Amino acid sequence: MNETNHATVRGTNGGLLLEVTLARFPRGQQASSLIAQLRAAVRSGSLGAGTRLPASRTLAIDLGVSRGVVVRAYEQLTAEGYLRARQGSGTEVATVRDQSESGARPPARPQSNPGLPAGALFPRAEWLRSATRALAQLPDADFGYGDPAGHPRLRQELSAYLGRVRALIAPPERIVIVNGFAQASRLVAEVLRDRGTLRIGVEDPGSVGLREQLAWAGLTCRPILVDGDGVRVDLLARSTLRALVVTPAHQFPTGVVMSPDRRHALLQWARDTDALVIEDDYDAEYRYDRAPVGALQGLGPDAVIYGGSVSKTLAPALRIGWLVLPERLVSSVTDAKYAADLATGIWEQATLADFLACGAMDRHIRRTTTRYRARRDRLVTEIATRLPDWAVTGTAAGLHLLVRPPLQCDEAALAALAQRCGLDARPLSRYATAELDHAGLVIGYGHQRPDALTNGVIALARHVPRP
Ligand SMILES: Cc1ncc(COP(=O)(O)O)c(C=O)c1O
Repeated sequence: MNETNHATVRGTNGGLLLEVTLARFPRGQQASSLIAQLRAAVRSGSLGAGTRLPASRTLAIDLGVSRGVVVRAYEQLTAEGYLRARQGSGTEVATVRDQSESGARPPARPQSNPGLPAGALFPRAEWLRSATRALAQLPDADFGYGDPAGHPRLRQELSAYLGRVRALIAPPERIVIVNGFAQASRLVAEVLRDRGTLRIGVEDPGSVGLREQLAWAGLTCRPILVDGDGVRVDLLARSTLRALVVTPAHQFPTGVVMSPDRRHALLQWARDTDALVIEDDYDAEYRYDRAPVGALQGLGPDAVIYGGSVSKTLAPALRIGWLVLPERLVSSVTDAKYAADLATGIWEQATLADFLACGAMDRHIRRTTTRYRARRDRLVTEIATRLPDWAVTGTAAGLHLLVRPPLQCDEAALAALAQRCGLDARPLSRYATAELDHAGLVIGYGHQRPDALTNGVIALARHVPRP
């Protein structure tokens, strides 16, 4: 690991404000690291509103960095609203903004999304065989920290796998291995923020976890409505946004598959405005009625940042994911990954590489697709039989679908009822920022046996009011 400089940030009156640690990184990374530490201190309250920060020259000397590094950190945090220029001279901590906007604190408890894969279907024996083989084959030299972009063998295997299964253009040198899409979105957000992109579009309805990750990185999320063809590119075109996160293969949570016209319009928007599309391809391997729709990235590899993970195919517990990046972003995202946690664990990476190489991933996906399709079919059939007025959509792929009751109702109460009946149901409005014209339930079925789904729908049908 790099050598580090430790320094204390002292206030203008000489009092201790904060301990800062800066690795002997290249200049750009030193600024990112200082920004992250100061931001965290403001958010946690250890640097309270009104605290006067030392002059940039003084802090630079204390930290052993050039003054430009401190000036950049102060400017960035001023742009984000954490610091403000004092009247007269100097810099002080601003009043921390509304936590519903960017900079919100992490919740006390983790919140999982619907559509978890079945733990019982995790391929324990095959994974263990790959883990054993990988451990036996790892050279001694691989027991260090490793390449922050990821183990070369995994990047090689993923390159072939993503090209074959998702029609990606993914040379290994454009792949960065991360701890799931959660970290992927966070790192991309940090890189965008450091390049001055402080606002980002997100789908509405869309993932709450994603909005949180983006906000924790200091970005402000601007929701863009989704309709039956996917995200509304016409609304995007009217905005000044230059980055957007989308789920084209199976929109989260509505399950809409983005139409071909909309995909082209989205890429055209990105090209016309020099914007970036971040594609969250979270559950596309599971597509039930037709061949999978190729990823957007394959159509526009220079405009699209692609992210995926094993959280649906294998298990969120593994915390392994990947980014496929336009060439110009690879180095900054790799730096951000290094600054976050040095690298993802090498044994896990080598195990996944082996799992892909020996065909175990393909076999596992074939097996589980059959099981998940049976669960989806059971849920759809039971709803059609016992709640025939309800609309079911978003069934083409993934591990969750959307149901809408015919009557306007108290959605939260309906979701609570469905949960009491044993279904993994959440109110659609939980994911929306705009008011919805219709109640809906997002129901995960991947981790429930068909009989449990039948029993859940029977119980729900017994209790819901009928038109
Ligand atoms: C919309 C969406 N994106 C991505 C993911 C996967 O996140 P991760 O790879 O961090 O587990 C999920 C998982 O539930 C999800 O719902």
